[in-house]
Amino acid sequence: MKEIIKQLVEAYGPSGHEGQVRALIEGLIRDQVDEIRTDALGNLIAFRKGTGGGKRIMTASHMDEIGLIVTYVDKKGFLRCAPVGGVFPMTLVGSRVRFANGQVGVISTEKWLRSNDLPPWDELYVDVGATSADDVPVSVGDAAAFDRPFADLGKRLVAKAMDNRIGCAVNLQALLEMGESPNDVYFVFTTQEEVGLRGATVSAFGVEPDVGIALDVTGVGDTPEAHPMAVSLGDGPTIKVMDSSVIVPAAVRNWMMQTAQKAGIKYQVEVLERGGTDTAAVQRSRAGVPAGCISIPCRYIHTASEMVDYDDVQGAVRLLVELLKSQVTL
Ligand code: CO
Ligand code: ZN
Repeated sequence: MKEIIKQLVEAYGPSGHEGQVRALIEGLIRDQVDEIRTDALGNLIAFRKGTGGGKRIMTASHMDEIGLIVTYVDKKGFLRCAPVGGVFPMTLVGSRVRFANGQVGVISTEKWLRSNDLPPWDELYVDVGATSADDVPVSVGDAAAFDRPFADLGKRLVAKAMDNRIGCAVNLQALLEMGESPNDVYFVFTTQEEVGLRGATVSAFGVEPDVGIALDVTGVGDTPEAHPMAVSLGDGPTIKVMDSSVIVPAAVRNWMMQTAQKAGIKYQVEVLERGGTDTAAVQRSRAGVPAGCISIPCRYIHTASEMVDYDDVQGAVRLLVELLKSQVTL
């Protein structure tokens, strides 16, 4: 599974530009599904027909990652950019970004030697190595994502875009491993989560599920002097109770927790104080859908080096498979 994770995290896919990620996932699952299609917002919707007597379950893992978009090119060929999703200036100076055409750029700030303060957005720029504006191989409106290779540290894995390619990896691995189920399952790989759950909103409307399960990353409290949070890397995937966008109904989280207990899968209980997920969009679809979320604990979310634990990832796959095969009574 590490090879699939490497391919997924290294693919280019800022919000609205998920095509490379989608093509990669489609290639890996096409032979394993009954139907597969891409909707108007670019969501990849893969359907596995159940053996009957079950529910219609939708999974959702977003394919997009945070990034930058070019707003202006000056005479010397320096780019000014705006954030796509929740990008923190403190993570940017000295970082590299890559555009869809492969062009690499370096991010810096006007006054980086003079200040210990966080650079404001209007002082940040991207240098693509151009000698003038005529020499810039990208244009206003082009988007870039962090450029950073995958690193396998053994039990821990580091990469840009673990948020949320690791959720995509769990989603697609569960599809490959699940075998027979009474449930009709729609595996959805969504777009534009980082800018407001847009892909999940329309795909949930289209799929019209009885139950929704999102897969995403969550924060941890186990780093030096971290904000207290009862989630640690390596203690298992989490079952969400609440985040800024959703309160998971008790019936849904109990189903998830009981399923994990029965299967002997170690899990943690998650309350994420800041951050939302596709869970919210699925929950509020049409007249409302019972929806929950399995998260993969992740350090340094929304930086170019997001870290997860491989055992947590495998635990998330096992839990998702058990849920998808279960007789759902929600
Ligand atoms: Co995110
Ligand atoms: Zn995410």
